[in-house]
Amino acid sequence: MAIVHQLQTPRLRLRQWKEKDLQAFARLNADDAVMEFFPNTFNLEESKEFAEKYQRKIEKNGWGFWVTERLEDGAFIGLVGLNRVDDLPIGDCVEVGWRLAKDFWGFGYATEAARACLEFAFDELALDEVVAITTVNNTPSRRVMDRLDMIDSGENFEHPRVDDATGLKEHVLYKISRERFLQTTN
Ligand SMILES: CC(C)(COP(=O)(O)OP(=O)(O)OC[C@H]1O[C@@H](n2cnc3c(N)ncnc32)[C@H](O)[C@@H]1OP(=O)(O)O)[C@@H](O)C(=O)NCCC(=O)NCCS
Repeated sequence: MAIVHQLQTPRLRLRQWKEKDLQAFARLNADDAVMEFFPNTFNLEESKEFAEKYQRKIEKNGWGFWVTERLEDGAFIGLVGLNRVDDLPIGDCVEVGWRLAKDFWGFGYATEAARACLEFAFDELALDEVVAITTVNNTPSRRVMDRLDMIDSGENFEHPRVDDATGLKEHVLYKISRERFLQTTN
């Protein structure tokens, strides 16, 4: 068991999962617009399994894909966080990732939350590098990576668990080193 970390930004809180998050999380995962660049949407049962998995990882490691809520009203806006990846052809690394409900796009929330995750990754976890991945055509997600000053490594790869027929198989790999993060945030 680890200390369960919670992050706070001017407008957001990143925290451990609670049972009350499930309905909003399931709505987000069932939304075609949110899931445009995923092979499929998820039903309630699948959403429950994901939420429980994320909760367990946070419980065990102290960090992970956190629920992101708005401080002002406690609204569930989605998930943003860090995740260890060791089952993709990109080596053993930690990724930063995000998925927000559509009502909360266009406010800078994903970038604000992800920046707090990078700060945590470099300051608390003492990582040397954090990566981000997405399918090549996911422009909104790539724009978040750009806003975070992450660099497109050019090392595109085929996601082993994504079917060719979806057209989503080819992924980009963005990276940011601790050194670059410190340079670009100060
Ligand atoms: C990817 C995703 C998180 C991007 O969300 P987003 O709201 O566009 O990203 P940001 O939080 O960086 O917000 C930036 C936008 O907020 C606007 N904005 C408004 N107020 C702002 C503020 N105070 N500060 C910063 N930006 C602000 C910016 O102008 C920008 O708008 P623009 O893209 O029209 O220029 C969202 O599209 C999403 O959840 N998609 C579905 C899930 C997904 O694909 N996840 C990635 C899988 S790898």
